[in-house]
Amino acid sequence: MNRRNLFTSALALGAVSLMPNMAEAKKAKKFVEGTFPEGFIWGAATAAYQVEGAWNEDGKGESIWDRFTLAPGKILNGDTGKVACDSYHKYLEDVALLKAMNLKSYRFSTAWTRIQPDGTGPANQKGLDYYSRLTDALLEAGIRPLPTLYHWDLPQELEDRGGWPVRDTAQRFADYADIMARALGDRIENWSLFNESKAFTQIGYWQGAWAPGRKDPLAFFKATHTVNLAHGMGFKAMKAVNPKLKIGSVFDVSPQIASTESEADKAAAVFMDKLSNLWFVQSVLTGAYPEGVLPFDKQNELLGFLPGDNTLMQADLDFIGINYYSRTRVWDAQKPSGVPGLLLPDTEWAFGDHEKTDFGWDIYPQGFYDILKRMQAVTGNRPIEITENGAAYNIGPDATGAIHDAKRIAYYKGHLDALSRAINDGVPVRGYHAWSLMDNFEWAAGYSQRFGLTYVDFANDQKRTIKDSGHWYGEVAKANRTF
Ligand code: FCB
Repeated sequence: MNRRNLFTSALALGAVSLMPNMAEAKKAKKFVEGTFPEGFIWGAATAAYQVEGAWNEDGKGESIWDRFTLAPGKILNGDTGKVACDSYHKYLEDVALLKAMNLKSYRFSTAWTRIQPDGTGPANQKGLDYYSRLTDALLEAGIRPLPTLYHWDLPQELEDRGGWPVRDTAQRFADYADIMARALGDRIENWSLFNESKAFTQIGYWQGAWAPGRKDPLAFFKATHTVNLAHGMGFKAMKAVNPKLKIGSVFDVSPQIASTESEADKAAAVFMDKLSNLWFVQSVLTGAYPEGVLPFDKQNELLGFLPGDNTLMQADLDFIGINYYSRTRVWDAQKPSGVPGLLLPDTEWAFGDHEKTDFGWDIYPQGFYDILKRMQAVTGNRPIEITENGAAYNIGPDATGAIHDAKRIAYYKGHLDALSRAINDGVPVRGYHAWSLMDNFEWAAGYSQRFGLTYVDFANDQKRTIKDSGHWYGEVAKANRTF
């Protein structure tokens, strides 16, 4: 189980706006793959630790990633996010890149340690000022800010107090969410609470390959419950500041495919769908965990679930963020998990003869369509934004300085075409963010994996150059269709 193995109609028809025969004509209009509804939002994404740098400037506190990256052997080549893309200083260049690509939405994340250096107490004004400047620059450029409050950079002080497995961290998160809503809620309408609850709890607390580097399945399950509580509590805290704010969260999902037709493998795939696709989104929306993952009689104890937690963790999210990269193959293995009464299947994230990205991830656009249909059903037809999708190709500049990354264009075209089909088939997706606006710090892989639409020269003052894919994507955003 690790990262790699493991509209409504846009026509928005007013009741009196169209005569019946015109409405029928519209309906009959043949769908063209790769075309998107009017008003579809085109954007790109980044995250604070991956791009900002300035790890100790202007009162910023230490996060678990600041600490983890310093431990020998954890990150490829000993890379760290100390400087990263230096977006803390170069954010105006980033806004200019978005503008040059005709993008209308920027998904970034706010670093909790800039706001509350040790995770509690009053806000650090200089930290707030940075996000205020970024917000103003985006609005000035006609770009919607879409911040994520938590993209994995927990204040180290909170980890020292027990981290996500400890219940109190949920209240700390709600306090931070309250500060952000008060500071920027006047200019930012749409917010995401978390990024990929599954990935950071699983890899950070169970596998130990990401910060904070713990290898404790029991801590993992406790962490999942605190994060779900933090969704409910953060959501309510922000709505209390301003009920007009639109609060969503971002979930990493992947179709779980049984490796054979055997009943055991099919059951293993159903199990993994609950643990990896439903454990967060469904629990937050309904206040109840999917049945059949943890042993029924031990579940409350294993999660630290107290009476009333169903109400506390429930959040009627205004939109659902979906990150899609690939599918997962599952086969029955009955592996002991370290959690009493829990046996696990085996999973793999790259398989078959399919072409892979440079990171070794399977390229499977049909999985995007399939998981969107599934998520539409699971989330009760709520508005969906694609908050991440993209590919690592480590292609550098040629002699003229141009970056010809045709493979990335092919990846995006395949996935955008699949997305257009899903929308045409009724999945209410209103926006798409490419991962990523620019090459950046890719967690345990350091700077070895380039996901950007923009090339960043890390050895040369973080110089930014838009790649062929960035130019292509800019044309797509402008025309509202793929080529
Ligand atoms: C996602 C993360 C994002 C980036 C991409 C490649 O899981 O949310 O920060 O690392 O993968």
